[in-house]
Amino acid sequence: MANNQVILQCRRAMADVDTFIETCSTIKLRDYQRGVAEAVFRSIRERAGRSFVVMFPRQSGKNELQAQLETYLLCCYYLMNAEMVKVSPTWKPQTLNAMRRLERVLGGNLIARHLWTKESGYIYRCGKARIYFFSGQPRSNIVGATANVLLEVDEAQDILPAKFDKDIAPMAASTNATRVFWGTAWTSRTLLARELRAARQAEQTDGIRRVFVLTAEEARIEAYLNSGISLQSMVFALWNKVMNSDATAADQIQASMIEINKGIN
Ligand SMILES: Nc1ncnc2c1ncn2[C@@H]1O[C@H](COP(=O)(O)OP(=O)(O)OP(=O)(O)O)[C@@H](O)[C@H]1O
Ligand SMILES: [Mg+2]
Repeated sequence: MANNQVILQCRRAMADVDTFIETCSTIKLRDYQRGVAEAVFRSIRERAGRSFVVMFPRQSGKNELQAQLETYLLCCYYLMNAEMVKVSPTWKPQTLNAMRRLERVLGGNLIARHLWTKESGYIYRCGKARIYFFSGQPRSNIVGATANVLLEVDEAQDILPAKFDKDIAPMAASTNATRVFWGTAWTSRTLLARELRAARQAEQTDGIRRVFVLTAEEARIEAYLNSGISLQSMVFALWNKVMNSDATAADQIQASMIEINKGIN
């Protein structure tokens, strides 16, 4: 392919986060993941500095979505001094797992795989865009980094609000970076719960969605659909089982659903 055609294809693929993931990555985002990716990117693009709270059940694809979004942002801001920070409650295993996930997604992405490098064991870079990975353990030393594009806190229910306020929030204090608090279980005193209340209040002020909450059942239904289990395919499988005594399709669907149910909870 001629050079300008390659550039044109890349431009098309980069047009928005969904197109980028669909054309350059190996997975298709589920609807509930797509909504978050688009809202977060809009806030970044508009330099709106919104704070999002994403509460999804276990194994519903939070880390996958994070890694896909991070990959998009690293490519998008290749030419700019974009700094992103991602904090997980522990270094081992959570931060290491998050870095491994990003590495896998970067390596599997048609554009990013040619651009990314790793620095100092905790920084991933594409051109001038960087993401720093830190642990939010009470004693971790993470002072000094700046997030001018995105500040993410994974499993925010497990990070002490005091740690966040003292060491993590200042990274985005002067930059108007977009913030995303990801999590699952929560009680009213966690960082996640506090940010949830603040995000709901902000939503009421300007009507812009910042809170994304999903039940396990909703997440499972989306996962069924994404893996090709539609209402039509179920009816067809049942018809074949009842009318033709052929349970092959019904068994396949059941096995896939059991597999999905085992994960998302
Ligand atoms: N859109 C998708 N299509 C296919 N598989 C997906 C998708 N999103 C996530 N997955 C897969 O689902 C599994 C769980 O995803 P992930 O680890 O991101 O979930 P999580 O919500 O972070 O889980 P946990 O709550 O345990 O931290 C992984 O194997 C991941 O690759
Ligand atoms: Mg996770």
